[in-house]
Amino acid sequence: MQYDEVLKNARKTILNCKACPECNGLACGNTLPGPGSKAPGNGANDNWRAWKAIKLNVDTFVPDADVDTSFSLFGKTFRLPVLSGPIGSMMQYSKEDVTVDFNDAVIQACAEEGIIASFGDGIRGETMEGGFASIARHQYAGVIPILNPIPNDEIRKRIEYLEPSSAFAVSVVVDSAGLGHWKFNDRLRPGSKTVSDLKFLRSCTKKPFLVKGIMTAKAAEQAVEAGADGIIVSNHGGRVLADTPATAEVLPEIVHAVKGQTAIIVDGGIRNGTDLVKALALGADAVLICRPFAVAWFGGGVDGVKAYIEKIREEFSDAMYMVGARRLSDLCPEMIRLP
Ligand SMILES: Cc1cc2nc3c(=O)[nH]c(=O)nc-3n(C[C@H](O)[C@H](O)[C@H](O)COP(=O)(O)O)c2cc1C
Repeated sequence: MQYDEVLKNARKTILNCKACPECNGLACGNTLPGPGSKAPGNGANDNWRAWKAIKLNVDTFVPDADVDTSFSLFGKTFRLPVLSGPIGSMMQYSKEDVTVDFNDAVIQACAEEGIIASFGDGIRGETMEGGFASIARHQYAGVIPILNPIPNDEIRKRIEYLEPSSAFAVSVVVDSAGLGHWKFNDRLRPGSKTVSDLKFLRSCTKKPFLVKGIMTAKAAEQAVEAGADGIIVSNHGGRVLADTPATAEVLPEIVHAVKGQTAIIVDGGIRNGTDLVKALALGADAVLICRPFAVAWFGGGVDGVKAYIEKIREEFSDAMYMVGARRLSDLCPEMIRLP
């Protein structure tokens, strides 16, 4: 299935999203509920523009060899350093709640393409249970459930529920404390976490533990202090606070603070293989991509998601070759030009 066809199909069914040729946060702007950014709606576009402002240096004075895009995390090897992003509720894109079907298709597509899938636990238990069932159905361990910052005891119950699954890691998303549309729920009200909260949550699982929603060097150091095996540098795609810096802007200082102590994953406006080269050249170990996976699923189900992953793989391999990188460890700051 061609990616152009995926986009064309998606436009027929998806709500609140124009399935733009490249998802840049402009057409959806300030649509919340919906897939956009918190008012005034610039966050997703700020992220996207920051990657576009970084340029790639062509370097073909290197030995000719095939490009190897394989990537290892917590002892498992994947085909690409890319994670599909969690969407806690697909009601942002649809009148029906299709979240469980979406997660199932993404886990299948990621398993077939050999990349890491994640899924959000949403507010309803069914979403998490559906994710658990999909891991078993597709017999795929390359999955990371990403849990919302509800009260610690409720997160502990969710971690204990997921622990027997073959998911190879678990994550808590701390910046969802800013999700306004969740505040109505007393029992599962999301809120901020301290280092000792995170230490407690880390102790609830034997799996590698990641903290999502890190935007400063200090927060990255605190996550490391709490025992995080990985962090996801993220401003939630501009959905939890307006006027934050773009993730590409804060990544270098976070890399400087914690590189080598924890795995560093970054998200926010990363759309194609050249963005992926830029993120890794800046020191990220991998990237997470969210909104385009929703569009790809509306446009073609499992095949649509696979077409998107294949597009990124080809672009990434091509861009690595042209900046003179033959394996991920070759990617370095000299290969890019900062604005
Ligand atoms: C509709 C929608 C729902 C989301 N739900 C979640 C969620 O449940 N948990 C989470 O950690 N992040 C969630 N996110 C944030 C994304 O995972 C990601 O951090 C953000 O969108 C930035 O990536 P992108 O620019 O590639 O979309 C959501 C984003 C969107 C657009």
